[in-house]
Amino acid sequence: MTKLIIDTDPGIDDAMAIFYAAAAPEIELLGLTTIFGNVTTPMATRNALRLLEAVGVDAPVAEGAHQPLNLPPFPPSANVHGAEGFGDIPASTPKGRALDEDAADFLIRMARTHKGELVVCPIGPLTNIAIAMQRDPEFVSNVKAIVIMGGSLEEGGNITPHAEANIYHDPHAADVVCTAGNKVVLVGLDVTHRILCTPDDFSQIAAKAPNLGGMLQDMSHFYLKFYLEVAGLNGCSLHDPTAVIACTHPELFEMRSVAMSVSCEGDTSGATLSSPDSGRVPVRVCVGVEADTVKALFLERLSTLS
Ligand code: BDR
Ligand code: CA
Repeated sequence: MTKLIIDTDPGIDDAMAIFYAAAAPEIELLGLTTIFGNVTTPMATRNALRLLEAVGVDAPVAEGAHQPLNLPPFPPSANVHGAEGFGDIPASTPKGRALDEDAADFLIRMARTHKGELVVCPIGPLTNIAIAMQRDPEFVSNVKAIVIMGGSLEEGGNITPHAEANIYHDPHAADVVCTAGNKVVLVGLDVTHRILCTPDDFSQIAAKAPNLGGMLQDMSHFYLKFYLEVAGLNGCSLHDPTAVIACTHPELFEMRSVAMSVSCEGDTSGATLSSPDSGRVPVRVCVGVEADTVKALFLERLSTLS
């Protein structure tokens, strides 16, 4: 079993990733930590609680940072994920509440408790992970891996020509995390742009799992419209679910070791840069993927939900 914490800004593809994790028999979901990005951090916390309650997973949620390490706050990506984070699905209040402990302290505590076993999967900006590294020098050695949806090596950006959104929204934090060496796996646009989920795919999920698959299909309309209008694609990239799948199925990915830094200034801010002269220990960057297998796994697992 993979002991997993997902650090998330839900977010439509975040919802897909969390439902996938709940459905995957080889994943033990130990909790969610929340971050701004697609929505504000308080909305991310509310949405994380809503998703866990919907899918029936009794796991804690710890709220994270409300703004980037150095930059001023960004407005949420409402044009991509809707005003409340789930497309056209309106806001609703969860029954539960977040822990009193903040995200970084929760991550540090869980990494100590499950020393050498915990996989952290950030699928939003990396602020909480950088804070955990700064608060606890043992954090990186305590975790098994940090498998990140973010960045790109050759694909360019999606929020600017150079930057992927999660890295762009806190480049200083991403640069801190890139010092963590080979514990870090970047699942970026080089692979997530190879995996598209079409309206027919969502219909298939909804037919097999009317309740939760239907919820994802309802959310997907807004996301698919964005992809059609902005990229001319009849489908959306499975960004965040692909990172969760990389946590348990690394054999489906081709990885390259790259000493990495992150541009924090100017037009290239948020670009992930190969920096062989930086003296940094290389991180692992996904550069190839068995796209059909990843997508089949996603569809198959989600179809087992209610
Ligand atoms: C990433 O940005 C967010 O919009 C998505 O949820 C995903 O984590 C893709 O660049
Ligand atoms: Ca996300």
